[in-house]
Amino acid sequence: MMAAAAMLFGACCTKQCDTPNTAGVVMENILARKSVRSYNGDTIPSAIMQDILRAAMSAPTGMDIRPWSFVVLTDKSQYETVFAGNFNMKKFMESGAVVVVCADTTVTRPPRDNPDGPAVTTPNQIWRDDMGACTENLLLAVEAYGLGACWTACYPYPDRMDPIKKSLQLPPTVVPYAVVPVGYHDGTTQPKDKWDESRIHYDRW
Ligand SMILES: Cc1cc2nc3c(=O)[nH]c(=O)nc-3n(C[C@H](O)[C@H](O)[C@H](O)COP(=O)(O)O)c2cc1C
Repeated sequence: MMAAAAMLFGACCTKQCDTPNTAGVVMENILARKSVRSYNGDTIPSAIMQDILRAAMSAPTGMDIRPWSFVVLTDKSQYETVFAGNFNMKKFMESGAVVVVCADTTVTRPPRDNPDGPAVTTPNQIWRDDMGACTENLLLAVEAYGLGACWTACYPYPDRMDPIKKSLQLPPTVVPYAVVPVGYHDGTTQPKDKWDESRIHYDRW
């Protein structure tokens, strides 16, 4: 299916672009992403981790606020503490790294159209949307490197967030949004085909 998607999108890329097959490669990567829950314990080279976080930081955000920060863990004794609030996390002990994706809910930036103007913060808790885009970008970069990851929920559950806030000494305005184990895996986990044409409506519902 992935090869077919690559051919299809490669062939259909009518836009002028530097790499004619860009659409095929990107679509193949998106369709190949899956939640991986079993790893072989190998560590992740820091250059790859940096690229993964560069992708995460490239996400769009409301008013360009970029509320994210990341705590990268590689020490398994720390995994135990970070997983403490979620009994389901044991299976992630062999991940090569755990990224705690954090949001500072009070981050401000100068307005996009007035760099000298008073700093603004995002209204209506839109930081949560920003963080979803950021986390998905991270997962796609992981997939692109042939690694596996699993988005695990943290915010808004106090029992999951509290041990993390405490053990990682997060500042009071910083929320641990998601915990993402990342690692090398045996490649047996298959992506799901979620295409459902009945979910699409043209012109009206
Ligand atoms: C907000 C969110 C929270 C999730 N929390 C967990 C979790 O706590 N534990 C887990 O194993 N998977 C978790 N997942 C992964 C989902 O179970 C997974 O994305 C879904 O089953 C679809 O499978 P796929 O990612 O392989 O396409 C979460 C995913 C999202 C987006």
